[in-house]
Amino acid sequence: MHSERGSFGSQLGVILASAGSAVGLGNIWRFPTEVGRGGGAAFILIYLGFIFLVAMPVMVSEFIIGRSARSNAIGAFRKLSPGKLWVAAGLMGVLGGFLVLSFYSVVAGWTLHYTAQSALGQMAVNPQSSTDYGQAFNSFVSDPWKPVIYLAVFLLLTHLVVVRGIQHGIERYSKLMMPMLLVIIVLLMFFSLTMPGAADGIRFLLKPDLSEVTPEVVLGAMGQAFFSLSVGLGCLVTYSSYFSEETRLVKSAVNVCIIDTMVAVLSGFIIFPTVFSVGLAPDAGPGLVFITLPNVFALTFGKMPVVGYVFALLFYVLLLLAALTSSISMHEICTAFISEHFRKSRQTAAILVTAICMVLGTFCSLSFGPWQDVTLFGRGFFDLFDFTVTKFLMPLGGLLMTLFVGWYLDRKLVEQQMTNNGRISVRAMRPLLFLVRWVAPTGILVIFLNELFPLFMER
Ligand code: PHE
Repeated sequence: MHSERGSFGSQLGVILASAGSAVGLGNIWRFPTEVGRGGGAAFILIYLGFIFLVAMPVMVSEFIIGRSARSNAIGAFRKLSPGKLWVAAGLMGVLGGFLVLSFYSVVAGWTLHYTAQSALGQMAVNPQSSTDYGQAFNSFVSDPWKPVIYLAVFLLLTHLVVVRGIQHGIERYSKLMMPMLLVIIVLLMFFSLTMPGAADGIRFLLKPDLSEVTPEVVLGAMGQAFFSLSVGLGCLVTYSSYFSEETRLVKSAVNVCIIDTMVAVLSGFIIFPTVFSVGLAPDAGPGLVFITLPNVFALTFGKMPVVGYVFALLFYVLLLLAALTSSISMHEICTAFISEHFRKSRQTAAILVTAICMVLGTFCSLSFGPWQDVTLFGRGFFDLFDFTVTKFLMPLGGLLMTLFVGWYLDRKLVEQQMTNNGRISVRAMRPLLFLVRWVAPTGILVIFLNELFPLFMER
């Protein structure tokens, strides 16, 4: 049974695939957006607290569940707690997997379009041509066809990796794409930090402005931490079910958190110095990467055409690589479930997942254009999916998983997983278990209730 399920071939593969899942649009697109809105360094500090005190314990819990059960997100809860309601956590995860892949692929599709445009030299154009990037962006995303075609191409790319299986698909491509991604980040940092006036951007990132911190910013920081580390949906339950008995769960989790945080912060160091250097505002929201940055590229192009061209192209390739290593992990949650639960081949399962997400993704894409007025619970499809996953399914899933590991699972089994059956010693085991049992669930619960209450009060 084991060998049929596939497994990662090396420790490096484990880290790069898990970090690949974590590092994504969340780091390069969403993180700077939230930093821009949340007052720079103040947001980053709060975010770091959530990463290491709340999201990392959830990640360790997911690893423990996945490797001890060696099954997909739903199957794992069935195996570890037969006939109990805990399976709801797995169900929510798989549902979340479908929803997140659908809306994520829409933004990834935009990225694909911007990559193609940059390669063709249309992104960094002479500023004299006075392209209005805001208008260009809006007219692209509201087009009924173009973004849907890019969405389909992106889903197909994801599909092609996932069908190849764990070692030949996910592991192999993560090992290829993650190093490329890291090299590009370093190159871009070099560009951005040498721009005139970059210091203002650096100051914005390093000097906490506490006056900008509102309860919403705190809530946003937790949502961002969960999203960025891919925790709460069973994505890492699924991945860790392919880990070997030798994989050190705690060490791997810490490494993934460090890589993910580094990439997020470095993306900040790429984006803000350039934005400040050309005198634009840092709080442009989601348009930061698709509207503000093209302006930066164009202004750079005006002065140094080659630098402008290369800068734009590398940036969007970076975004694309990051999106792809994450989308394969979302796809895998669903594919592993369908293939194991309904006893289908990986290929059939993957085709089903791709087809379903193509339909749901099209709904999301159309909600920026012709279906702007089609709403459910007061939200368009894209917003609804985003909201359901990041504000609801991820925190609730994270809460259930820490409670499951901290309070329900046999303590011996948990310790065996953390220490690889006593073969290694984990110095931080006690404090970590404390985080899993108390700190993470309490933190999530407080914030979750704070978030839900006003919603119900409004009604
Ligand atoms: N962590 C990914 C990112 O930062 C997003 C993601 C969410 C991946 C949920 C898998 C599951 O972009």
